[in-house]
Amino acid sequence: MKTLIRGGTVVTATDTYQADVLIDGERIAMIGNQIPIVPDKTIDARGKFVIPGGIDVHTHLDMPFGGTTSADDFRTGTIAAAYGGTTSIVDFAIQERGGTLRQAFDTWMAKADGKAAIDYGFHMIMRESTPALREEMGALVREGVTSFKLFMAYPGVFFLDDAAIFRTMQRSGEIGATICMHAENGPVIDVLVEQALAKGYTAPKFHALTRPARLEAEATYRAICLAEVADVPVYIVHLSAAEALEHVTAARDRGLPAFAETCPQYLFLSYENYEEPGFSGAKYVMSPPLRAKEKQKELWRGLKFNDLQAVSTDHCPFCMKGEKELGANDFSKIPNGAPGIESRMSLMYDGGVVSGQITMNRFVEITSTGPAKIFGMFPKKGTIAVGSDADIVIFDPERKTTWSVKTHHMNVDYNPYEGRVCQGAVETVLSRGNVIVERGIFTGRAGSGNFIKRAARS
Ligand code: URP
Ligand code: ZN
Ligand code: ZN
Repeated sequence: MKTLIRGGTVVTATDTYQADVLIDGERIAMIGNQIPIVPDKTIDARGKFVIPGGIDVHTHLDMPFGGTTSADDFRTGTIAAAYGGTTSIVDFAIQERGGTLRQAFDTWMAKADGKAAIDYGFHMIMRESTPALREEMGALVREGVTSFKLFMAYPGVFFLDDAAIFRTMQRSGEIGATICMHAENGPVIDVLVEQALAKGYTAPKFHALTRPARLEAEATYRAICLAEVADVPVYIVHLSAAEALEHVTAARDRGLPAFAETCPQYLFLSYENYEEPGFSGAKYVMSPPLRAKEKQKELWRGLKFNDLQAVSTDHCPFCMKGEKELGANDFSKIPNGAPGIESRMSLMYDGGVVSGQITMNRFVEITSTGPAKIFGMFPKKGTIAVGSDADIVIFDPERKTTWSVKTHHMNVDYNPYEGRVCQGAVETVLSRGNVIVERGIFTGRAGSGNFIKRAARS
């Protein structure tokens, strides 16, 4: 099957030019003008951007957490991702206490199998760090799971102490893997939570007030120091605090392989959302929490100057009814997480490119190319080049999207951006050459997504 995308403006992380893109089977076969071929299908992209499919390297589909399970599974979550212009995700498999990494990998492969409508890879969350597990990390890397998420937060759930973190980092360094770090000082947060509850403070906003930015900054600094000594790249996930970003910037200025992502919620929502009436603030209970609005400009600056290399979603949706409600009388029981897999590209285009904060090339870099490079998927994923997978989005820069629970495709009963109008809309999406969204309608198939075997660092 040969598909020709005709007349669009191709945008990569480095270039912007008018060209036709020829796809042969699953790959990009030719880029040029007046390609002398009669294709099986032609897509008219005049007046549109032709960009690499979005890559969201932080999602939690079908994830047991906080006494419940995230509301999107691999079918609903990846279809919503496709609607939003994302063609690859890297989700998190979770090692059970006493279990092996292989068991976790098999469990998450089974969750995705027959359901994922786009390609998917996995990071591995390690809840323990025994000699046997550290040995096993090598086998996982050979399977294409080349990054491990560790937690400095959530004591009793995911938390590892510094010694365990350090040993795991050393092993990652040896085998060419990357450490993804949830950097918040969990033990100290637990003291603050206990003290707040003892005073009768139960409302959602106390989730944020008991997780101060300084404790994210402290953990970020500690993670970077441990990684430096262990000689391993560290990627700070869901960075929300400008105070934490300062440490990433300083480390990068020293030439360390320190990377960080932020998420749209930290760029477009803020502490004030917790003060919405009634229990509505629970919609935004996530860790780290939303921060002060006036600090957002620091995150934008980080994105512009490459102190932040990626924007992912941390998509971890829980319905208000029956799930967030678990914390109606105690903020610490509200399941942590929020939806966003569908709105990332739209928000970043509107709030980033249209508003003049970042260029269109930088938009492509932070939503696709950068994460593909950091996590061993480039150049198969993350660019428009001959030989790359034909994961392509035709993006209409003029048409507007209004975000609403009534029209979104995520399996969750609220949208954190309800009513927000974004300029720009995903029109057509191709996943490995197959059109999976055509003029705004999903035409793909659950189960057509492939596992992405990611490369380790050489
Ligand atoms: O609140 C969040 N971020 N929920 C998902 C789990 C995590 O820590 O990424
Ligand atoms: Zn986390
Ligand atoms: Zn997460």
